[in-house]
Amino acid sequence: MNATPAPDASPRSPRRLWRNARLATLDGEGWGGIAQGALLTAGPHIAWVGPLSGLPAHTVVDEEHDLDGRLVTPGLIDCHTHLVYSGQRADEFERRLAGASYEEIARAGGGIQATVAATRSADEDTLYTQAALRARTLMAEGVTTLEIKSGYGLTLESEARLLRVARRLGRALPLSVHTSFLGAHALPPEFTGRPDAYIDAVCGWLPALHREGLIDAVDAFCDRIAFSPAQTRRVFEAAQALGLPVKLHAEQLSDQGGAALAAAFGALSCDHLEYLGDDGIEAMRRAGTTAVLLPGAFYVLRETRVPPVARLREAGVPIAVASDHNPGSSPGLSLLLMAHMACTLFGLTPLEAVHGITTHAARALGLGDRGRLAAGLRADFVIWQLDHPNELTYWFGYNPCQRVIVAGEART
Ligand code: NIG
Ligand code: FE
Repeated sequence: MNATPAPDASPRSPRRLWRNARLATLDGEGWGGIAQGALLTAGPHIAWVGPLSGLPAHTVVDEEHDLDGRLVTPGLIDCHTHLVYSGQRADEFERRLAGASYEEIARAGGGIQATVAATRSADEDTLYTQAALRARTLMAEGVTTLEIKSGYGLTLESEARLLRVARRLGRALPLSVHTSFLGAHALPPEFTGRPDAYIDAVCGWLPALHREGLIDAVDAFCDRIAFSPAQTRRVFEAAQALGLPVKLHAEQLSDQGGAALAAAFGALSCDHLEYLGDDGIEAMRRAGTTAVLLPGAFYVLRETRVPPVARLREAGVPIAVASDHNPGSSPGLSLLLMAHMACTLFGLTPLEAVHGITTHAARALGLGDRGRLAAGLRADFVIWQLDHPNELTYWFGYNPCQRVIVAGEART
C-alpha cells in the first residue's frame, strides 16, 4: 500500500481512502465497473477514483476504510417527490379499486384537494416530523439527494411553510434537498371558477418565495384536471423573469403539448409522460430536457398507457426514474422498487433504470456535481450487499443498502 499518513491531517477536511471496492461509477454510458477499486475523498468531494493500483504514489491519506470487496455506486437521487403533506387517502384508494377514476375523484373535490385541506391545518413541526420519517425511509435505501415539491398548500403562507419544511429537512438530515415550487398543482377552493386569477396569485408569490431562498425550480401540473398550457406558460414566464429553472408534470392523463411548452423554456425535466407524442419528444431532445418516468403513479392509478420509452431512447432523451411519493397516486417510499418497476412496467433495461436514479436524476435537477463517481464531484456513495449493480433493479421488498456516505461522511 503506497498511501502515507498525512502530517497535518485537518479534522475539518479529512482525506479518506475507501479501498477494496467493486465500483460501478456510472461515469459514461455503461456501469463504469472497476474491480479492486478505490475512492479518495477530500472533505465533501471525491479527490480521486480508479483501480487501487493506479493511486498516485505518496497520496496523502488520513483514514483508510477497507470495503471488503463490496459493490459501491453513486448515492441515489429521487428527483420527483411531494414529500411534505399531512393526512392520507386510503379511502380514495378503496374508491378507485371499486371503479372510480383519479379524474372523477379530483373533479368531485377529492384527490389533491383532500390533501390540501389536511395540509393547511397542520403546523410546521407536525409537517416536519411526518416528512422526516418519510425522508429517512428513502435514505435507508441509499438516497442521498431528494427533490421535494410544494403544492399542497396553495396559499402563499402555506406554500412557504411546505418549502421551509423541505429546507429544514436538508439542514437537519444527512441528505441534500432540492425544492420545487408547485403552486400551480391544483385550483384551491377559494378560486373555484377563476383559474386565471389563481395563476396571477401564484406568479405574484414567486418573488417573495425566491427572495427567502425557498425555490430551486418551478413546477406546474398541466392537464385537463389542472392547468392549461396558456396558464402554465404564465407560470414559466414568471419563473424565467427570476432566473429560476422550470420543470413540468406533463402528459400524464392526456397530451396537452405540455412537454413542448416546457422544452421551449429550457425545462430541466418533464415528468410522467404517458401521453407524450413525437413533437414533445423532439422538443425535449432539442432542449436537452430529461424525461422523468414515475412508475409508482402509473401502477397505483392502474394506467394502461406506458410512456414512449423506445422513442425517447431512440431520440437520445435522458431518462430518469423517481418515486413521485405523494399520498394520492404514489404512496410508496422505495426508489429501488421504482427502478424495478421501470424495468418490468416500462421496459427500461437495468442499466437504464440505474442511470435513471443516479446520473439522469441529477440531470433532471440540474445538478452537475453528483450522480456519478468521478473526481471533483460530491462524495455521495452507497455500499451495497450485492454482487452486481444490475441487482439494484432485481430484488424487491429487500433493502441491500449497507452503508451510505454523504459529502464524505458516513451516515450513522
Ligand atoms: O405527480 N399529477 C399530479 N400530482 C401528483 C399527484 C398528487 C396527488 O394525487 O396528491 C403526481 O402524481
Ligand atoms: Fe408528481
